[in-house]
Amino acid sequence: MPQLNQETKHKINFTLNGKAVSGYTEPRTLLSDFLRQEMALMGVHVSCEHGVCGSCTVQIDGKAVRSCLTFAVQVEGRAVDTVESLADENGELSDLQIAFRKHHGLQCGYCTPGILMSVEAFLEINPKPNEDEIREMLSGHICRCTGYTGMVKAIQDVVETR
Ligand code: FES
Ligand code: FES
Repeated sequence: MPQLNQETKHKINFTLNGKAVSGYTEPRTLLSDFLRQEMALMGVHVSCEHGVCGSCTVQIDGKAVRSCLTFAVQVEGRAVDTVESLADENGELSDLQIAFRKHHGLQCGYCTPGILMSVEAFLEINPKPNEDEIREMLSGHICRCTGYTGMVKAIQDVVETR
């Protein structure tokens, strides 16, 4: 059995939240685990670990992706953004984060980072969605607390003000 050291790992180079980074990973390591354990990005939440709940969603090259269904080696040369990218360097929340707070779009917050990353990717494709389209997009995420109404209002608020 080989030792799990740097020699059995792959080096990956990619852009993470706007900065060029590199790291070592085993071929089977999930991106969700790599981001949390190697990059210390605890905003990547992991719940179901099989692509159902959406809590682990990040963006890869601007598209919403479930990091629990992605191997870390797959991001070689690509741009990964997590929820930590939304606030500015002074910690000022983004308009979407502020709207979620204002409209009570979160309670425990476990689902929230993944939802925010999906919403941002969605608004890039559809900047003026109607309520049905917003609810259809949110249907890919499981939230056990809010009932989704506050999230819909928050997204509508951002759509109106951007
Ligand atoms: S933890 Fe990835 S979709 Fe649930
Ligand atoms: S706010 Fe608790 S799961 Fe969504």
